[in-house]
Amino acid sequence: MVRWVLESGQRTLFDPGFGMGALFDPVADDPGMVFAGSEKDSKILDFWTGEAGGRKVEIEHEDYLLSWGKSHANIVCNPSYMRFQKFIGRDSVFKAFVDNLGLRLSGYTNTASAFLLKSLSELNGSGRLAYIMPLEFLNTGYGIIVKKRLIESGHLVSIINLKCEKDIFPDAITSVGIILYDACRQYSHVDFHIADSISSLKNILECQPTTRVALDRLNPESKWLSYFQKNTFDINHRMAVPLNYYGHFSRGIATGANEFFVLKPSRAETLGINGPEVVPCITKSSQIRQPVFGRADYDDLVRNDAPVLLFCVSKTHSKHAADYIRSGEQRGYNTRFLTKNRNPWYKTERRAPAPLLLGVFSRGGYKIIRNRSEVLNLTCFHGFQPNIIGMAYLDRLFLYLASAPGRDVVSLCVRRYGDALDKFEPNDLNQALVPGQQVFDELSNREVAKAVRCAERTGKTPGWIDTFFEQLMIPNDH
Ligand SMILES: C[S@@+](CC[C@H](N)C(=O)[O-])C[C@H]1O[C@@H](n2cnc3c(N)ncnc32)[C@H](O)[C@@H]1O
Repeated sequence: MVRWVLESGQRTLFDPGFGMGALFDPVADDPGMVFAGSEKDSKILDFWTGEAGGRKVEIEHEDYLLSWGKSHANIVCNPSYMRFQKFIGRDSVFKAFVDNLGLRLSGYTNTASAFLLKSLSELNGSGRLAYIMPLEFLNTGYGIIVKKRLIESGHLVSIINLKCEKDIFPDAITSVGIILYDACRQYSHVDFHIADSISSLKNILECQPTTRVALDRLNPESKWLSYFQKNTFDINHRMAVPLNYYGHFSRGIATGANEFFVLKPSRAETLGINGPEVVPCITKSSQIRQPVFGRADYDDLVRNDAPVLLFCVSKTHSKHAADYIRSGEQRGYNTRFLTKNRNPWYKTERRAPAPLLLGVFSRGGYKIIRNRSEVLNLTCFHGFQPNIIGMAYLDRLFLYLASAPGRDVVSLCVRRYGDALDKFEPNDLNQALVPGQQVFDELSNREVAKAVRCAERTGKTPGWIDTFFEQLMIPNDH
C-alpha cells in the first residue's frame, strides 16, 4: 500500500489512525519522507513521544472524525472497525459529516467507512489513497454513499479482496480488502482483484483482475461483492421478479434461552410435558441433512433423542409445565434479554411451519430445504411463508433456489463475512431475483415432481433444471 501510494511522486504520507505505525515502518528510515498522522489514543501517543521519540513523525492527538479542515497529498490507513450502533459520540460524528460534507451517514455504517469518506474529501488532488477496509460495505445499504463517492470522479483504481485475511488479521470476522484510489488520474474502469496470499499482493496490479468493470456500468446501488466471482452475469430482468412477489422469508423463532426452551424427547417425558406443550422444531441447522425434509425424517430425529421439541405454552398450562417454568425462573432464564421483554417470559413467538427453509450461515453454498413436515424452526434457518400466489409455486421456488443458476443469483445478496462465511438476511433474500410466473409455468407439474424426487434422492437438482433456469442469466464479459 505504501509503495503504491508513493508512486504518485509526492514524498508525504498521512495516516489518520496511526497506532503503532505499521504503515510508517516501511518509510521510517527514509530521511526525505514527511510522515504525519492522527491518533486519539493518548497511551499510543505517549509511546511516540517517549521511547520512540526521535523518529521523524508528526502525530496529532485528535479524534480524526471530529477534526476537519485539512488536506493531504497521500493517505494510507488501516482504520479501526466499529459499528456506529455501538459508538459513543456518534451523534457528533454524524453532525460533523452533515456540516462538512453534506453527507447523512446511515446508523448502520461503521467507523471504517466514515474514515474513508473523510479521507477521500481531504485529498488535494496531487496524490493517492490506499485504505484497508472491511468489504461488507460493498453489499450493504449503508455502503451506497461510500461506493458513490469512490466512483464519482473516476479515480477508483482497484479493490483487492484479501482472501488470505486470516493470515493477516487472525481475528477478522468480516472479509477484508484494500481500496486503491488515485486522485491524479482518471480511470475508465475499475479492477476487482483477489489476493490469495500476502506475497501475491506485491505485483497484483500487473495480474489480470478477476473482473474489470467499466466505470459507467458500476452502480453504487448494486452489490459489488459479486465482482469477485468469476463468470459474473447480468440478470434478464424481463423474466425475473423479486422473491417477495411469492411471499417472504423471515427469521426463525428466537427463544432467548435455548437451554430452557429446547428439549430432547426423553427430557420432555421425564418432565411429564407432552402433547401441545412441546411442538416439533428444528433447533440446529445440522439436524437437516437432506434437501427434502418430511415427517419420517423428523421421526428419525425423535428416535435418536435429538433436541427437537420446543417448549410452547401460554398463560394457562399444565401443572408439569408450571413446575418447569418455576425451575427456569430459579435458573434465571426469565431475566435474559429477550425473555424479560416478553409477557409472560416463557411464551415464545407463534409461527406457522415454513415450507421452505434457508440456512442463515453457510460456507460454500447455502442450505435450502423443502420442508414437507409440520416442524417449526429456530433462528438457524430463515423460513419462507408463501402468499396466495406463492402457495402454488413452492416446489418450483425450491428447485430454483437449489439449482446452480438460482444459487448464483441469490448469492448476490449475501453478506460475506471473513473466512468464507456467508450470512443471509431475510430482507436481502426477499429482494433476490427469482423467475416470474411465466417462466415457472413452462415447467409441467410432472417435471417438477420428477426434479424434486431427484433432489431428494441425490441431494442435487438435475442438470436439466439448471439448464432451464439459466435462461434468467445473460453472460457478462465485463
Ligand atoms: C486498526 S489500528 C491501525 C494502526 C496502524 N496504522 C496499523 O496499521 O497497524 C487503528 C488506529 O486508529 C486509532 N483510531 C481509532 N479511531 C480513531 C479516531 N477517531 N481518530 C484517530 N485515531 C483513531 C486507534 O486508536 C488505532 O490505533
